[in-house]
Amino acid sequence: MPSTPPPQTYRVKSFGCQMNVYDGERMAELLADQGLVPAAEGADADLVVLNTCHIREKAAEKVYSDIGRIVKDWGRKDGSSPLIAVAGCVAQAEGEEIMARAPAVRMVVGPQAYHRLPGMLAEARAGKRVTDTDMPAATKFDALPGRRRSGPAAFLTVQEGCDKFCTYCVVPYTRGAETSRPFGALIDEAARLVASGAREITLLGQNVNAWTGEDGRGRAIGLDGLIRELAGFADLRRIRYTTSHPGDMTDGLIAAHGEIAKLMPFLHLPVQSGNDRVLGAMNRSHTAESYLRLLDRVRAVRPDIALSGDFIVGFPGETDAEFEDTLKLIDRVGYAQAFSFKYSPRPGTPAAAMEGQIPAAVMDERLRRLQEALGRDQLAFNRASLGKRCAVLVERRGRHAGQWLGKSPWLQSVHFTDEPWSKAAIGDIVEVELTAAGPNSLHARLLQPAPA
Ligand code: SAH
Ligand code: SF4
Ligand code: F3S
Repeated sequence: MPSTPPPQTYRVKSFGCQMNVYDGERMAELLADQGLVPAAEGADADLVVLNTCHIREKAAEKVYSDIGRIVKDWGRKDGSSPLIAVAGCVAQAEGEEIMARAPAVRMVVGPQAYHRLPGMLAEARAGKRVTDTDMPAATKFDALPGRRRSGPAAFLTVQEGCDKFCTYCVVPYTRGAETSRPFGALIDEAARLVASGAREITLLGQNVNAWTGEDGRGRAIGLDGLIRELAGFADLRRIRYTTSHPGDMTDGLIAAHGEIAKLMPFLHLPVQSGNDRVLGAMNRSHTAESYLRLLDRVRAVRPDIALSGDFIVGFPGETDAEFEDTLKLIDRVGYAQAFSFKYSPRPGTPAAAMEGQIPAAVMDERLRRLQEALGRDQLAFNRASLGKRCAVLVERRGRHAGQWLGKSPWLQSVHFTDEPWSKAAIGDIVEVELTAAGPNSLHARLLQPAPA
């Protein structure tokens, strides 16, 4: 009897932002649609997709060491190597260089072209090396199979690309121009996600609040309109969005924070610097003051909102005094969490050619001081939550028996343990009281549900 060969196996590894994570999930779904199955933990894969990030030099260089490691560690018992594909933003920016530097790579595919992976795979299996970094006019989303993923918290990319051209940033080049996915496609995808268990959806975009579309009745709407529509799904309990740009915070979106209960009280709004000269040189469209006023308006409608930001230290020409302005802004905001980075010169961006590149030691010291201040505020925010009662979306099991891990409305990680009278399950939304706070997570105790 002829034996059928076992199905080919794949592994997708994503780096970078949540949009890359989303793309990684879509690529996995596409490969599954082709009959491939995920490689078991620790086992060889026939196909490895590295879904890369180009935002900072370290992230981009990592690709090459990762390729080396795959060839070494995941070289198969029979001596053959897996097919290696490089996807994501490094693929877009350095496709040719990857092909030249890394002979083990068979496929290079950009973030707007990955719906063509199956065709590329066929060519690669026939021995060719193929690159596709087109940004085709027809969106990849139309060519992708339906969502298969399940789980309580899901990502949904609604907007892609960036037209802002901050002088330090590669995203406008790696992801292309700002585009919004159509309303109908998003409602369909959200419905599928909810039907397969999503209780929370995070709407994603490089500038997610630049999303615009037409609702079912042909009316022009912005992100707040989309959120309002999604809030109508009974089984969807929570909505979040990221990353937003201060220049695209519309009156409607601010108002939505006060009006839509399912929109969680959390706002990630990158500011980068607290100094107006630096912000100008970065080509940010806001000043420190206009950013702070914006936060005041959000707080006016949603006083408990948790704020998050992104910061860059050591932008070319940044003086000590200008850096101090960033520390002052942090003190005024009181962030619940934040991401902070040393400026990294990126090829082809205007800032990389600017005078006054900052020495590494100065950047290190600024980053240390910034992170100390942000860490202090994060702990203060978590401590201020002690004693609060809130709902937690249960996302996974904890390390100990009966322990669970979930998220508070303010995106804090919360641990709690089953009680004799109540066993939680993934996807539940449970009421807890927050009882202990560390810098990165909290502990809570389950509350007895009110008698019906
Ligand atoms: N679209 C989002 C963020 C995209 S990139 C926004 O505008 O806010 C995520 C973060 O990476 C940025 O907010 C910025 O803080 C950081 N970043 C981008 N380019 C960088 C660079 N060249 N060096 C260091 N950090 C950078
Ligand atoms: Fe990059 Fe600026 Fe666009 Fe954000 S807004 S992706 S930082 S260019
Ligand atoms: Fe990185 Fe590309 Fe996202 S450069 S941060 S993976 S858009």
